[in-house]
Amino acid sequence: MARRNDPVENASALGDAFSARNGVFSDKALLDVGYVPGPEHIVARNEEIRRLATALNPAISGAAPSNVFLYGKTGTGKSLCARYTTRRIVDAAAEEKVDVGCVVVDCSQDNTETRAVRATVRGLNDPEVTDLTIPETGLGRSRYYSLLWEVLDARFDVAFVVLDEIDCLDGTDFLMQLSRATEAKKLDRCSVGIVGISNKVRYRDRLEERVKSSLQEREIMFTPYDREALREIIRSRLAAFDGGVLDEDVISECASLAAEEHGDARKAINLLRHSGELAASEEADRITVDHVHRAKNVAEQDRMRELIDGATIQQKATLLAVTSLALVEKTRTFKTPEVYAAYEDICGESGLETLSKRRVHDLLREWEFLEVLEITRTGGGRARGSYLQHRLLEDPSVIRSGFDGSDRFAGVGFSAGEVTTTWSNI
Ligand SMILES: Nc1ncnc2c1ncn2[C@@H]1O[C@H](COP(=O)(O)OP(=O)(O)OP(=O)(O)O)[C@@H](O)[C@H]1O
Ligand SMILES: [Mg+2]
Repeated sequence: MARRNDPVENASALGDAFSARNGVFSDKALLDVGYVPGPEHIVARNEEIRRLATALNPAISGAAPSNVFLYGKTGTGKSLCARYTTRRIVDAAAEEKVDVGCVVVDCSQDNTETRAVRATVRGLNDPEVTDLTIPETGLGRSRYYSLLWEVLDARFDVAFVVLDEIDCLDGTDFLMQLSRATEAKKLDRCSVGIVGISNKVRYRDRLEERVKSSLQEREIMFTPYDREALREIIRSRLAAFDGGVLDEDVISECASLAAEEHGDARKAINLLRHSGELAASEEADRITVDHVHRAKNVAEQDRMRELIDGATIQQKATLLAVTSLALVEKTRTFKTPEVYAAYEDICGESGLETLSKRRVHDLLREWEFLEVLEITRTGGGRARGSYLQHRLLEDPSVIRSGFDGSDRFAGVGFSAGEVTTTWSNI
């Protein structure tokens, strides 16, 4: 019989406690946000990819590509298609012995002109080839620009500068500089193709005429995915899971829920991952529709808590006003006077200064920007005038849970205890 201190026996008694156990997952990386699926796994975007590739195609023979802007709501595959298409063009050009470079600048991070130029030149430089090192700090904007022109001409026939989340970039000077570089004789050899990406469909309205005229960009609109496309997108990630843990009804449920929320593929994939994590934490051997529903709730609560934690006290009060109305009235749409009256009540109850209608409106617009609320103008006919409708997009009970632990608003606005409404019956 093995003795207690027998090392070998101990090791086997520990079973697989020290080996990597991922529960239901076999390759979770497939569900990571930054994962770029291969062409066989990009679903329902053939037309968009074809149009983008056509615009960029001249680069393969070393000629100047068109500038292209991709627009569409969040999670519709813009960043993915831009990365995939530019990568393919770079590879195709390499086969023709044409040097094409590509850099993706995340303008939500590099949001000033200087930062964006710096990120671009740092992304395109190769010190081995150019003999240049580009320091992270210490140089002025114009120096970064001159380094950029130098690097581009030294390395490439054509370079793609992908400006993702371009609406976050201050001003349009960087766009001007890039689009006029050849004309202004900053570049001899290299031509630049700009790929701008934005989920603000009206971004173009902000551009001045002179910028538009030098960009001459083509536009590609990415429409939201429907249920069928979302189902295919989810299916394309099935390899993330062990065989047999995912049923067709779970796939359908994830697709339906994401389709309801403006066809966002990121939401569908995240929901799938969270459902898997929940199942794994419960040591379940398969994922059920119930896991999906609970995972959705947890994800929404996390998001609301984050948004509410990051809001100012007055912002919170305006959201609380709409939310408490929704919980009490059991409807989701309200006119301005109702919202303002509820806001006044909340200020009264919590001892907060009451702001003007105009200020409250501005604060509500911020919630609209975060897609918690939708504000639309509804016409009552010319004679009767038009008014604003505020529609809550999130489940009010989920929003309420985001206020839990907020001392300032404890018990305020929710007619304590009597509210049992859930979103599904509103
Ligand atoms: N057609 C598709 N096929 C497979 N996966 C997709 C598809 N579209 C999007 N995805 C996946 O969904 C997620 C979101 O896509 P992506 O980041 O491209 O969206 P986006 O339009 O850039 O959104 P945002 O405006 O929020 O930046 C990514 O993980 C991406 O790989
Ligand atoms: Mg994106």
